[in-house]
Amino acid sequence: MSDKITAAITAVGGYVPEDKLTNFDLEKMVDTNDEWIRSRTGISERRILKGEGKATSDMVVPAVLQLCEKRGIDPLEIDAMIIGTVTPDMIFPSTANLVCHKVGARNAWGFDLLAACSGFLYSLTTGASLIESGRYKKVVVVGADKMSSIIDYSDRATCIIFGDGAGCVLLEPNTEGNGIHDSILRSDGSGAPHLHMKAGGSLHPATYETVAAKEHYAYQEGQHVFKHAVKGMADVSAELLERNHLTGNDIAWLVPHQANKRIIDATADRMGLSTDKVMLNIQRYGNTTGATIPLCLWDWEKQLKKGDNLVLAAFGGGFTWGATLVKWAY
Ligand code: UT7
Repeated sequence: MSDKITAAITAVGGYVPEDKLTNFDLEKMVDTNDEWIRSRTGISERRILKGEGKATSDMVVPAVLQLCEKRGIDPLEIDAMIIGTVTPDMIFPSTANLVCHKVGARNAWGFDLLAACSGFLYSLTTGASLIESGRYKKVVVVGADKMSSIIDYSDRATCIIFGDGAGCVLLEPNTEGNGIHDSILRSDGSGAPHLHMKAGGSLHPATYETVAAKEHYAYQEGQHVFKHAVKGMADVSAELLERNHLTGNDIAWLVPHQANKRIIDATADRMGLSTDKVMLNIQRYGNTTGATIPLCLWDWEKQLKKGDNLVLAAFGGGFTWGATLVKWAY
């Protein structure tokens, strides 16, 4: 026991839509093939949220309710909610605002945080600060995206990667030294031209022309982003280990953003980690942007042990990237 308050993850929730979009389905939509997608990305299928009127909040709500049930808390106990997303239900109000209403978290305030694929890590660090301040006892941190709402399914360079999903964690104060220990977060806006959505913001508000020019879809220069991602995610993960005087041997799990298996392999290699210590579910969900890291925690929760050191790492649009060291609390 110590006087220092750390922000511990005390529960994990998740949700993926039922509908699957397989590589074989994509073969019928664009000029691609299963072998190419699997060998270049590691992806076999992804989940798609279908149905009129369904939005990101419709995936976050079941994930948050599951989280509350697992931890045995009433949504009224939630103090704050942060949602890392690039596909909010609408530009405003925030998705956090809508989700708090839908789950009955009437005592919570919250906001959306936009940091693309690093959205969950940015949100986790922000949420941890709220707990460490001593002012808040229960903070829900979410990563969620309905990427299918901003993907051009005639563009084979982007449509093969992305999928939909939502994951969340509950942060609570801990005095045993478990929880979020350290984070290195980075951003470099010069990367914006290589991965962005051209229209729909104040720079290019929506017009008939922007819609006709497909400017409301995600635009990505894959190879350029790939090169930066390999270096950025591996560098920051190695730096995090070094400044905490740890080596790969001290790490139980790498929890990487699932953008491309080759980026993940490069990061694990740089950290000196064998593949059995790397969480990988990209083959089933694809790249769900903000949701990849919490969905890994959701899938692996039963295998995690109290005291395990986890490194969470991400790279994405912005550019934004980072790594976070977590000591598992249960
Ligand atoms: O989520 C955070 C940010 N995003 C990322 O981290 C994603 C990073 N980028 C990537 O994962 C990869 O760049 C992609 C998976 C998007 C593309 O893989 P790549 O190995 O970088 O492919 P490429 O763009 O260099 O294209 C190689 C070849 C090209 O053909 P030529 O010019 O060599 O004849 C492409 O036209 O592969 C072709 N190609 C495809 N072929 C079949 C591109 N997309 C496809 C496709 N199916 N879907």
